[in-house]
Amino acid sequence: MAQEALVIGASGMLTEVSRWLARQGYEVTVLGRDPVKLRSVRDGSTHPESIHLLSQDYHQTDRLHQAIADLVEKRGPMDVVVAWIHSTAPHALPVIVEELSRPEKHWQLLHVCGSAAWRNPMTEPTSEFCMYRRVILGFTCAGEHTRWLTNDEIADGVIDALQTTERQMIVGQVEPWEKRPAYEAI
Ligand SMILES: NC(=O)c1ccc[n+]([C@@H]2O[C@H](COP(=O)([O-])OP(=O)(O)OC[C@H]3O[C@@H](n4cnc5c(N)ncnc54)[C@H](OP(=O)(O)O)[C@@H]3O)[C@@H](O)[C@H]2O)c1
Repeated sequence: MAQEALVIGASGMLTEVSRWLARQGYEVTVLGRDPVKLRSVRDGSTHPESIHLLSQDYHQTDRLHQAIADLVEKRGPMDVVVAWIHSTAPHALPVIVEELSRPEKHWQLLHVCGSAAWRNPMTEPTSEFCMYRRVILGFTCAGEHTRWLTNDEIADGVIDALQTTERQMIVGQVEPWEKRPAYEAI
């Protein structure tokens, strides 16, 4: 039976991660708000039949609970979750962990975090079934020029992280911290 993956925030920087998971043989559910953007993740894939769309705003906590419960009902327990969730939705990850742990089967969560996470200790979700790892998005620096990572650099780094068992990985660099660019979308 195919393994199940869920990618949250899948139609932006994680588009190629979703498609890569489908190429690896996963059945991949892609979550975001805009169904048109989600369809383009599927339609640009070499394995469109393995990409399933879930249009849901992760700020809507009750609806998110129900959507994830329905997902497990429909597709069975998830094996791998990759999550990029803006800091404006602090309840989203706990809801997802709670619902995905209900089947009492172990699953892996790769949490994609902005650079500031590097300065914070890793706070793991409280579920004995969830194996939590995080990948921190840094920046890139060449001489005096410094910039945030591109979608391709981020996708490559997340795909590398999916192929290791390291608890924490950094894409790009986070030091020297004072050299980071001014604004980062988190
Ligand atoms: N350290 C770094 O270098 C770094 C860090 C962060 C970002 N960036 C860059 O900045 C760009 C912008 O970042 P971004 O996070 O705005 O874009 P993004 O990853 O390109 O898109 C965010 C993803 O999350 C989904 N999303 C957003 N709000 C949501 C909600 N309330 N509920 C469900 N899904 C939601 C979006 O789809 P919908 O809009 O359809 O919901 C989309 O799939 C990135 O493309 C990346 O290149 C760089």
